[in-house]
Amino acid sequence: MSSVIPAPSSVVSPGGPVFVLDEHTGIETGPGAGRVAHWLRTTVGAATGLPLEPYASGGRRVLLRITPPLADELGSPEAYRLTVDEHAVVIDGASPQGLFYGAQTFRQLLGPAAFRRAPVTSGRVWEVPPVIISDAPRFRWRGLMLDVARHFMPKDGVLRYLDLMAAHKLNVLHFHLTDDQGWRIEIKRYPRLTEVGSWRARTKFGHGASPLWEEKPHGGFYTQDDIREIVAYAAERHITVVPEIDVPGHSQAAIAAYPELGNTDVVDTSSLTVWDSWGISLNVLAPTDNTLRFYEGVFEEVLELFPGEFLHIGGDECAKEQWRESPLVQARIEELGLADEDELQSWFIGHFDKWLSARGRRLIGWDEILEGGLAEGAAVSSWRGYEGGIAAARSGHDVVMCPEQYVYLDYRQDAGADEPVPIAYVRTLEDVYRFEPVPPELTPEETAHVLGTQANLWTEVMEDHARVDYQAFPRLVALAEVAWSALPAPGERDFAGFERRMAAHYGVLDALGVGYRPPTGPLPWQKRPGVLGRPLEGTPPNR
Ligand code: ACM
Repeated sequence: MSSVIPAPSSVVSPGGPVFVLDEHTGIETGPGAGRVAHWLRTTVGAATGLPLEPYASGGRRVLLRITPPLADELGSPEAYRLTVDEHAVVIDGASPQGLFYGAQTFRQLLGPAAFRRAPVTSGRVWEVPPVIISDAPRFRWRGLMLDVARHFMPKDGVLRYLDLMAAHKLNVLHFHLTDDQGWRIEIKRYPRLTEVGSWRARTKFGHGASPLWEEKPHGGFYTQDDIREIVAYAAERHITVVPEIDVPGHSQAAIAAYPELGNTDVVDTSSLTVWDSWGISLNVLAPTDNTLRFYEGVFEEVLELFPGEFLHIGGDECAKEQWRESPLVQARIEELGLADEDELQSWFIGHFDKWLSARGRRLIGWDEILEGGLAEGAAVSSWRGYEGGIAAARSGHDVVMCPEQYVYLDYRQDAGADEPVPIAYVRTLEDVYRFEPVPPELTPEETAHVLGTQANLWTEVMEDHARVDYQAFPRLVALAEVAWSALPAPGERDFAGFERRMAAHYGVLDALGVGYRPPTGPLPWQKRPGVLGRPLEGTPPNR
């Protein structure tokens, strides 16, 4: 059994002499395979210290080629076949993306040391036993949502996460760029969004009732050049970046920057600041024409930067209190002939659904966008359980299944008192691994609307990359297998088998420098007290 994660569709091990990767091994690059050859040289080449030069006859070779009929044979344009014998490694990809995944699998077969940035030992022998792996993903949307609004992740950290995602064959970065606590993307025509909206004065620790504060400003944002670099880096790794600009709730940072976006007849928005607390802010956008034009301006720049099909408009947790109190909003509801505030939210989302469709793009939002009627072309990220996703799929809308009960990686991994700033309920590695994105009540036709799944990483309690790593790993590895690998039998996953493969895969994570939650033994801050994390909510921070 190969230890490859996510598990491939088919692995045949014929036995016989091994393939040896050495200084005489060359890379033969077929048409369209140049980028993958480049990626192999910069990753496996760096880890092994081998030149991996273009193939010249005589030595062993790694042959990279695009073989389109594989898409039909294996059922996906992302499919690949990896064939290893003593003379050659042949990687056939149905597309450049499939070829890239074949190369990722090849790197895993070389072992954890092939994931290092530089060679550790000279004279090491790099061997791969003969094997034929035929592989294709179960879902086409295999994602990670990264919240860079609650805690900013500098650009290099995002690029690192793109590499970690690619190593696990994940292909969608849902990039949560705006929220009450920060606006993280430069918009040229509205400079105050980042001048004002990207900084908050202080930060609350955890969700506890008697808060502790870090009394220093927190902030940062990506310039448009940074975004272009992130999108290009992702594209080289066959990852689509789906930007999220959250409306009409989760918008306090934008209102702090441009007070006229808020409900000025019921709150003095000119005194609002970027929020320093967690939860659901009552300060939401006013549903005026001015707000619509403002966000069309934002989206015009966002669409220029992100070439993918989808724009995520949030739509979650929009508090309706101000809308209920505001005479202006009530007049708007009447003028539009709407029944209530839910229909108003639906009208607001529907406006951007049509606006995006007219520009050849698609809207996706959290499952609250179902309330008051789902806009025509909208897709849904189902987070409050399966129900929203089921309703959306039944009415012919596409769905990304990401219920908080399974795939919210900010939730604690263990019931022990040692989890750092623990929030919500326990979701273990096994819980994530056993998550099934397709609920049994869906018909095959409805099931076709399940685009796939993603893990959601909200960062209220993750102030730096060490905390993000700890929450994301190893559970993101389990999610990657859920998204890529077919169920071995209906309704079943072999968690014991996954744990056995994980035993080897922790070596891969070590080589990649990932600060995962260790499966056994002391937790990181027990080994290095005071350096990483904090043991319990309510305990003073140690930095
Ligand atoms: C969400 O967790 N508010 C989508």
